[in-house]
Amino acid sequence: MDFSTISTRGLVLLGCGKMGSAMLAGWLRGGLAPGAVHVIDPHPSDWLQSTGVAVNGLLPEAPAVVLIAVKPQMMAAALPQLQAMGGGETLFVTVAAGTTIATYEAILGAATPIVRAMPNTPAAIGRGITAITGNGAASADDLATAEGLLRAVGQVVRLDGEHQMDAVTAVSGSGPAYVFHLIEALADAGEAEGLPADLAMTLAKATVGGAGQLAEDAPDSPAQLRINVTSPGGTTAAALAVLMDAETGFPALLKRAVKAAADRGRELGK
Ligand SMILES: NC(=O)c1ccc[n+]([C@@H]2O[C@H](COP(=O)([O-])OP(=O)(O)OC[C@H]3O[C@@H](n4cnc5c(N)ncnc54)[C@H](OP(=O)(O)O)[C@@H]3O)[C@@H](O)[C@H]2O)c1
Repeated sequence: MDFSTISTRGLVLLGCGKMGSAMLAGWLRGGLAPGAVHVIDPHPSDWLQSTGVAVNGLLPEAPAVVLIAVKPQMMAAALPQLQAMGGGETLFVTVAAGTTIATYEAILGAATPIVRAMPNTPAAIGRGITAITGNGAASADDLATAEGLLRAVGQVVRLDGEHQMDAVTAVSGSGPAYVFHLIEALADAGEAEGLPADLAMTLAKATVGGAGQLAEDAPDSPAQLRINVTSPGGTTAAALAVLMDAETGFPALLKRAVKAAADRGRELGK
């Protein structure tokens, strides 16, 4: 992305844990000068110290961007120190799960451009997907800036509004955990069929990873890819009859799981 405004006015990164570090690494790889970045974090990692960015130093008065990557529970303690940057000149981008735009507006003022983003953990390997939405004060340029920063850790999609955020969280935000559990369950099932545990796990991991990559890359839809590997009366068909059962199969199970996550998100957002 074009880092020119950020290079002159600076970027403040509040919280540099897993997500903050993944983004920062991406920006630096993409050519952002370390001198433009000011990190606030109570326990800076050795890696962070080695990057050459400013850590827990004096902050610019009106940076181009503040990126918030602290845990939602730390928000109340962390945000007030940045209150003076609210009001319009600085774009705030937040990746914190659950904290609503209204919460930020209450602290920073409604004239502050705010972009709320929901990334997911494959961001750690540059394979995340992040959904973004802005408040009324966020301009098209602000959304483009946020998108450019978040593209450092994977794909970015735009939402129609914040009302979609709980559903997005339930699908892609929490989704990697569902897939990790699918891997565990597939490996366990392989063990139950007589395979050694480590072999079953190797097969399960590579199958989910490879199939996921194929589904992303192939021109065919996932449904067509499934049909392509299912011969009538064969082994795959036998398993799919179980998995595609309307009441006890994946569709009903995932609908319940995703609804539980979305409901919980709505509850936490209150
Ligand atoms: N990881 C993901 O895949 C993912 C996905 C979606 C959304 N998110 C969101 O991203 C945010 C960060 O998640 P994470 O996984 O990166 O968590 P994390 O690894 O715990 O990072 C949070 C960082 O903020 C630091 N911190 C704590 N209090 C602070 C304060 N007052 N001022 C400045 N920094 C402070 C923490 O330091 P200490 O460790 O020393 O306390 C830590 O380095 C969360 O809000 C989460 O909801 C993460």
